[in-house]
Amino acid sequence: MKFNMSFPLTFSLLLLIQCTTTTLAQPAAAPAPAGPTNVTKILEKAGQYTTLIRLLKITQVGDQINTQLNNSNQGMTIFAPTDNAFSALKSGTLNSLTDQEKVELIQFHVLPTVLSTSQFQTVSNPLRTQAGDSTGGQFPLNVTTSGNSVNITTGVNNATVANTVYTDSSLAVYQVDNVLLPLAMFGPKAPAPAPGVAKKPKKKSGAADSPSSDDGTADASATSGLRAKGLLVGIIALVAGISL
Ligand SMILES: *[C@@H]1O[C@H](CO)[C@@H](O)[C@H](O)[C@H]1NC(C)=O
Ligand SMILES: *[C@@H]1O[C@H](CO)[C@@H](O)[C@H](O)[C@H]1NC(C)=O
Ligand SMILES: *[C@@H]1O[C@H](CO)[C@@H](O)[C@H](O)[C@H]1NC(C)=O
Ligand SMILES: *[C@@H]1O[C@H](CO)[C@@H](O)[C@H](O)[C@H]1NC(C)=O
Ligand SMILES: *[C@@H]1O[C@H](CO)[C@@H](O)[C@H](O)[C@H]1NC(C)=O
Repeated sequence: MKFNMSFPLTFSLLLLIQCTTTTLAQPAAAPAPAGPTNVTKILEKAGQYTTLIRLLKITQVGDQINTQLNNSNQGMTIFAPTDNAFSALKSGTLNSLTDQEKVELIQFHVLPTVLSTSQFQTVSNPLRTQAGDSTGGQFPLNVTTSGNSVNITTGVNNATVANTVYTDSSLAVYQVDNVLLPLAMFGPKAPAPAPGVAKKPKKKSGAADSPSSDDGTADASATSGLRAKGLLVGIIALVAGISL
């Protein structure tokens, strides 16, 4: 009689120990930081790009770039305007943009191929950027070169490639002395945001509103924790049931 009672109890305790071990092991299994390219880190190291870093973050274009660098073999080129370049914009320019326009402005500074400085001499205009449509009044970006100097024109303003910030086989980051203003937003035909006129409230698929992957991870571990707890309660109930 005594044996019959204690055998299932021992067995249940074994199960319980196993279950606890599994739960404890989960956080340790978190992916170790490998070495994928991190654009933010590159810009931080270079200094003078705090505004661009902030915009890459709030628009989530920085994450897009990191993901695409890891997944494509075309590489990418980034024209990085300095903090001075952003300061030189007419005051209120950034604030007048909707969330979606901020995304497009930053995407306009990113090319979906890696270009060396010498390749700028042979590319055909207009170049396609991550902002999309490079025709007409949309998002054209032209490059002109003379010797080693590279100029960019958007149809609204011009910029000069001042410096190479970073290059490897898949990524090139060039310092530019002006924020590149796309025709679609700043061109003569674009509906200019008239000062003083109330803007229509626009429904935007706000990139900043979507949950971060950090939250997703937290949710997942919380769920598995709950599941483990449920199992534990089940085992205790089983033990209690047998004892009765
Ligand atoms: C990239 O680097 C920045 C700054 O060093 C850091 O805050 C961020 O967590 C990094 N991102 C990834 C995906 O490692
Ligand atoms: C990079 O790509 C590999 C496979 O192509 C994938 O297993 C890995 O999770 C990716 N890493 C990141 C940080 O996206
Ligand atoms: C680039 O622009 C500067 C003025 O901003 C000009 O002096 C220079 O000649 C231009 N270079 C090319 C290659 O167009
Ligand atoms: C860019 O280059 C294309 C092709 O040469 C030309 O048709 C277009 O007008 C140029 N746009 C600007 C803004 O310079
Ligand atoms: C930009 O540069 C082009 C020559 O490449 C010139 O014709 C144009 O006037 C410049 N635009 C501005 C706004 O400086």
